[in-house]
Amino acid sequence: MEFRYHILRKRLVMSNGVINSRLYVGLMAGLIVLMMTALVLTGCSDMGSVVAGGDTSNSSPPPQQGQDVSFQSHVLPIFQRYGCNSCHGGSGGLIVSSVAQLLRGGDNGPSVIPGKADSSTLVRKLAPGTPFGDRMPQGGPYLPDSTIQTIKLWINQGAKNN
Ligand code: HEC
Repeated sequence: MEFRYHILRKRLVMSNGVINSRLYVGLMAGLIVLMMTALVLTGCSDMGSVVAGGDTSNSSPPPQQGQDVSFQSHVLPIFQRYGCNSCHGGSGGLIVSSVAQLLRGGDNGPSVIPGKADSSTLVRKLAPGTPFGDRMPQGGPYLPDSTIQTIKLWINQGAKNN
């Protein structure tokens, strides 16, 4: 009796061992597949952002040569990216969220003069050597030249509400 019991126990332990190691191999294989998938996915999204270019926010590509600059899809995302809205969002002074508000301007008059980018306060506040107060965005980081060019082009094309 005792002898048989002993054998039975041994078999049980062995079969448990087999089940456990199969489970283990299965789990590891699953983990590896998951990690590979994660790697492929992150790799692809990185490539996506390189293709989109680092200069504009969100998914909007910069305007092409000869293309109309759009307030909604080119200019506004720049304001959002550089946090202009957090200080110019309606708590007094200039509001940058619409063309009408930019034309109305702030304490120093209209911020945008359609067709005249170089005399527009908006542009002069973004470049070094501002006519009054601080360079925008206050405290930086400031806009790269190419991004200021996009805003200038929009103004020189008539500052359309497009
Ligand atoms: C941290 C707060 C802050 C941020 C961010 C900021 N501004 Fe300003 N801005 C101010 C303050 C304060 C003034 C008024 C004092 C001055 O002119 O320096 C001002 C003034 C201005 C004016 C002049 C308005 C007038 O008629 O007096 C313009 C144009 C302007 N900002 C545009 C922008 C733009 C565009 C951005 C984003 C690229 C931006 N600002 C980001 C705080 C901010």
